[in-house]
Amino acid sequence: MVRNAPDADFGFRQVPLGDKQALVDGVFDSVARRYDLMNDLMSGGLHRAWKDVLVTAVNPPRGPQPFALLDLAGGTGDVALRVADIGGPGTRITVADINPEMLAVGRKRAAKAERDIAFIEANAESLPLPDRAFDVVTIAFGIRNVPRIELALAEAHRVLKIGGRFLCLEFSSVDVPGLDALYNLYSFNVIPALGRAVTGDAEAYRYLVESIRKFPKPVVFAEMMRAAGFRRASFQRLTGGVVALHSGWRL
Ligand SMILES: C[S@@+](CC[C@H](N)C(=O)[O-])C[C@H]1O[C@@H](n2cnc3c(N)ncnc32)[C@H](O)[C@@H]1O
Repeated sequence: MVRNAPDADFGFRQVPLGDKQALVDGVFDSVARRYDLMNDLMSGGLHRAWKDVLVTAVNPPRGPQPFALLDLAGGTGDVALRVADIGGPGTRITVADINPEMLAVGRKRAAKAERDIAFIEANAESLPLPDRAFDVVTIAFGIRNVPRIELALAEAHRVLKIGGRFLCLEFSSVDVPGLDALYNLYSFNVIPALGRAVTGDAEAYRYLVESIRKFPKPVVFAEMMRAAGFRRASFQRLTGGVVALHSGWRL
């Protein structure tokens, strides 16, 4: 009997689940060098404000108390560097990402900023990290790229200490009439053109825009977090729902 392999969304395309990660890796291989610049251009700098909201929620101690942060799909280290800027001497930061090109940019940035951040190549679906090791686990604009989101959520839960917090910043669904039409126009027309001009790869940015539309609505994602064991799962919409910050606790 021939059984159909499960499919996954790759933007608006359906691809075999086992093929998605390689396609995602291709996107980030292609844009890694220009990734940070593109974030600024695409969002008009807004991604900085969204990451500030995330980092405020991370709230690392300013003093010498030990504090361990894991930033999943941490790419070029943008979130990690922001936490390092405000955390005290007891703050230890690990960035895990599956893409060596993104990690290479991150390592270079951390060295330039003289920040001691550990960068590890790892799949969020199966982390080479011990149980109950981190006070906070973050993931920013990463979870929608992971083929098996439920595995990544289970891993985030596993590596958190009891009392630890999971924070996920992700694009969401715009819920302000008028803004949604404008946002669609901008996303499907301006962003791929900008991607072509800056990185030479319009398709990579078309994928990014499409993957945002396919990501579950915030109430659905909150349910997925609960299913993975997180308690007090909640979310906060930012910028009319362009982005949502999800929070859950390991209790
Ligand atoms: C849109 S970037 C976000 C980077 C960074 N968090 C930021 O906000 O600037 C998405 C990242 O997810 C990473 N990624 C995709 N699939 C992954 C997986 N299965 N495990 C870990 N990282 C993954 C990509 O390599 C890429 O660096």
